[in-house]
Amino acid sequence: MQSATGINGLDIILGGGLPTGSAIIVEGAPGTGKTTLGIQYLYNGIQQYNENGIFITFEEFPDQIYTDMKRFGWDLQALERNNQLRVISLSPETLIQQMRETDGLFETLIKEIDCRRIVIDSISLLKFLNRDSEIKGREILYTLRNILRKFKLTSLLIQEQSDLNAEHVPFEHFIFDGLIRLSLKEHLQLFRQRTMEVLKMRGSSILEGEHIYRITEEGIYVVLASRTVADIQDSESELRLKTGIQSLDDILGGGLDRGNIYMLDTNSKANYRNIITSILAERIKAGDQLLTILSSIQSIEELAALLKLHQVDLNKVIEEKKMYFIEHYNRPLPESWRNSVFHVNDLDNEKYNHFLKYELYPKIHSDLKNEKNWFIYYDLNAIINERGTDYVLRHFATETASARSKGMTVLVLCNFKEVGNNVASFLERSCNGVLKTWVDGSYQYLQITKASNGDISKPYLLENMQDFPYIRLI
Ligand SMILES: Nc1ncnc2c1ncn2[C@@H]1O[C@H](COP(=O)(O)OP(=O)(O)OP(=O)(O)O)[C@@H](O)[C@H]1O
Ligand SMILES: [Mg+2]
Repeated sequence: MQSATGINGLDIILGGGLPTGSAIIVEGAPGTGKTTLGIQYLYNGIQQYNENGIFITFEEFPDQIYTDMKRFGWDLQALERNNQLRVISLSPETLIQQMRETDGLFETLIKEIDCRRIVIDSISLLKFLNRDSEIKGREILYTLRNILRKFKLTSLLIQEQSDLNAEHVPFEHFIFDGLIRLSLKEHLQLFRQRTMEVLKMRGSSILEGEHIYRITEEGIYVVLASRTVADIQDSESELRLKTGIQSLDDILGGGLDRGNIYMLDTNSKANYRNIITSILAERIKAGDQLLTILSSIQSIEELAALLKLHQVDLNKVIEEKKMYFIEHYNRPLPESWRNSVFHVNDLDNEKYNHFLKYELYPKIHSDLKNEKNWFIYYDLNAIINERGTDYVLRHFATETASARSKGMTVLVLCNFKEVGNNVASFLERSCNGVLKTWVDGSYQYLQITKASNGDISKPYLLENMQDFPYIRLI
């Protein structure tokens, strides 16, 4: 359950709103808009979500607040007359005292208007009620948290900016459920920019990062970073190819980009077969045409066995002429697969390139005209072994560019370490995206080190599971 703020952008960052019943700290320097945010949350709650609210202030008189908020077109007194809102000005001591009493002022107020949302402006003073001891301050914050929970109120607790450089994390960051930080920062030494960041939100996933906000005539307005907006749109787009691994799709913003060239940089210790098989299986299920260059360590039979674990019957796929293979090793094949396998072991580099250009690609090209999607996968180290580094350096960029221009998606497996730094950086430049997986100690990691939108991800732990889809990124 969520308690929507109704503030543009913020509900998207929060994945719908504040978790109902949670107590959230809003932290910021003077003038960053904390009071405005608090009132806006209450005002929208009443106007849009049928949730009444209480605003408690230690610092200002209600009259000042009424006047300030009129600038945004919010008539708070009208809401008070309707018993939907209460604006209360009192001392911190009185609040704590009244909160502790059953049937005290606090409880009465809440019952009177069936209050669901509360804002306290600000808790900075509460902590110092008893200056002699920090312990007392903590006790007061605990009391406050427990009372808010008891009445199942969703609350915003405003606080002056804590010292960002302080060595210890302030105590209140632990005991409350979330933290929203408003900042006013120097931008390019030209102007000051307001940014909002959700640093913690217990029990919900949030859009990370600093989002710019403005204080407009309608109150606070958060503009989401364009990247996040693009991700939201892209993830719904048909141009995203699902990998079959939900957590990987999420990191990729919905999946692989159709028509792009991806490289999976791996080493022999890392388990990459599940990743590759899952992607291939997903492409087959989606009805794509597939082409693969077989490596010396993976025959069609071995691929068939892996695909079977992903509920794909390779025999059927071959029968339907949905998958083709380039074979360098002349391994024996069942009769029914013959027409789908191109044997190239007798072709030198020049003839091989000729074959690709004048036999294979024209065939693919005619399929593309029929609006079939092609997905190509191969192990580049196998090509380097068979054709040499020079061949790859000479042809890789042109081949991938040509594939891209025809809207094919290409996934290339490569061990960057094995090919050396220069070749690796050439390859990296020639593709749109790089996924890197490696083993460190007894754990495997996966990271996106290059993406078409310029974002690199953090390293994720790759967990191998017993059951389908066998992989999870955490
Ligand atoms: N209509 C408006 N358009 C643009 N900015 C506005 C408007 N109304 C108020 N502001 C700005 O909003 C800020 C005040 O917001 P608010 O009082 O909510 O901040 P605050 O963080 O609570 O400040 P304090 O720490 O002093 O209590 C001021 O910087 C003011 O310039
Ligand atoms: Mg204020």
